[in-house]
Amino acid sequence: MKTTKYETLYKDAQAVIEGENDLIANMANLSAMIHQAFGFWWTGFYRVCNVDSSSCTTLATRERTEELVLGPFQGPIACTRIPYGKGVCGTSWKRQETIVVPDVEEFHGHIACSSESRSEIVVPVWRDGQIIAVLDIDSEKLATFDETDRLWLEKIVGLL
Ligand code: SME
Repeated sequence: MKTTKYETLYKDAQAVIEGENDLIANMANLSAMIHQAFGFWWTGFYRVCNVDSSSCTTLATRERTEELVLGPFQGPIACTRIPYGKGVCGTSWKRQETIVVPDVEEFHGHIACSSESRSEIVVPVWRDGQIIAVLDIDSEKLATFDETDRLWLEKIVGLL
């Protein structure tokens, strides 16, 4: 059921992203498509940006003068900046891997942008061998996300 939805979503995302190379436009459409398909509480991107100038770059710099800055999203107002290693998003960026959180209250350091959020998944977005953003999805239900979500969402953000 979930897999069928993701198969359709992946094909639709491919069609929408094909022929458009603007990252923000593609993130905007992806967040809308994922959000609409599943009716999540919050679906969006945080981009890796330079702390001082706020310029977000895909150029390689391993210095931690960067933080996550809110990008295209669907859902209620959210926190704008997340430091490296903080919250689920900053931890996913630091560990360089997807994090599935069945119960946000059990995740030490979870940043509660909304008290409605109960479970969460954060998926890194890679380009040229480095993380340029993360996809963050929140659900108002416990244990919404599993390995199927991880697999497909990694595949979908791979289109960016
Ligand atoms: N909960 C996230 C913060 C972002 S909001 O959920 C949109 C975190 O702990 O990183």
